[in-house]
Amino acid sequence: MSQGPSSTNNLYSLQSHILSEEALHPGASGDFSWIVSAISLAGKAIAHRVRRARLENALGEAGETNVQGESQQRMDVIANEILMRCLGSRASIAVLASEEDEEPTIMRRGREGGKYCVLFDPLDGSSTLDANGAVGTIFTILRNDPLIESAEKTICQPGRKQIAAGYILYGPSTAFVITTGSGVALFELDPFIGSFILVQRDIRIPTAKRVYSVNEAYSASFPSGYQAYLTWAHANDYSSRYIGSLCADVHRILLSGGVFLYPPTTSHADGKLRLLYEANPMGMIVEQAGGLSYCATTPTLDVQPTKLHQRVPLVLGSADEVRTVLRHIEAKR
Ligand code: AHG
Ligand code: MN
Ligand code: MN
Repeated sequence: MSQGPSSTNNLYSLQSHILSEEALHPGASGDFSWIVSAISLAGKAIAHRVRRARLENALGEAGETNVQGESQQRMDVIANEILMRCLGSRASIAVLASEEDEEPTIMRRGREGGKYCVLFDPLDGSSTLDANGAVGTIFTILRNDPLIESAEKTICQPGRKQIAAGYILYGPSTAFVITTGSGVALFELDPFIGSFILVQRDIRIPTAKRVYSVNEAYSASFPSGYQAYLTWAHANDYSSRYIGSLCADVHRILLSGGVFLYPPTTSHADGKLRLLYEANPMGMIVEQAGGLSYCATTPTLDVQPTKLHQRVPLVLGSADEVRTVLRHIEAKR
């Protein structure tokens, strides 16, 4: 794995990285860089609130049920508000859409300068927060199509059309992972200077690793192909790691390999994870790092979305490991 510059004199920040990538696109207006900087600012603010949540009595349920039919955590609401405030002030954003809001928010039309759409899961894995578990913010940036009137139709673009995707993982450190289509870069927040500093560029997922990540409590209701895969894995010296926070499970796989599965279950016949702001951004990151990402037997990034909050089954990770899961799914079709 290529390491970044040595930690002692490393001042190559996320800002420097985005501006140097912008320089590769002559005529770039800087609007895209401003959006990434807004996400970076929101990430620092959310990291601060997550770390103080217990002290500020901001844990636990907000008392509302969100559009997902799940009880909203107070920190879901706080993270959502921070992202809406940081992104809302960026003049190039046409549409914002969040896991926590039923409808997309139209900021401005194409003719008013709305070039981009930003979708996000403000706090992923938030149910693990009460136990001090790692949580994350997942984001994706799409081009706005000014000719499409409906905001929902505008953002229902296949994942292949994402121009950037990433996540911020609030764990023992605050990691910022981003791809703009030419590899995956990892930054870590240096709290002493308040910047995300480059620690690894062009991350490559190991092609094979005998670790699977799934909530086996639901395995009795998985389709038979997934069950056959687990039976095979149990007989082939695999180990299991499951944190129950997509960002944390994906980050482990991105850095050390393995395969993540969220199959269809009795309670979620289409799978639990949301296509537009969970599966697609993670699928782009994993593909850009040399891995694979599938929704059943279709590459995640080729699925044509129809609804903002649509759910999909998801298998992603090391290329050889994903192919092994697909072999078992196809054998049982
Ligand atoms: P969110 O907190 O944004 O609703 O996402 C939770 C998701 C995802 O983070 C994780 O992979 C999955 O839920 C875990 O689901 P189970 O608890 O059903 O295993
Ligand atoms: Mn989530
Ligand atoms: Mn969430």
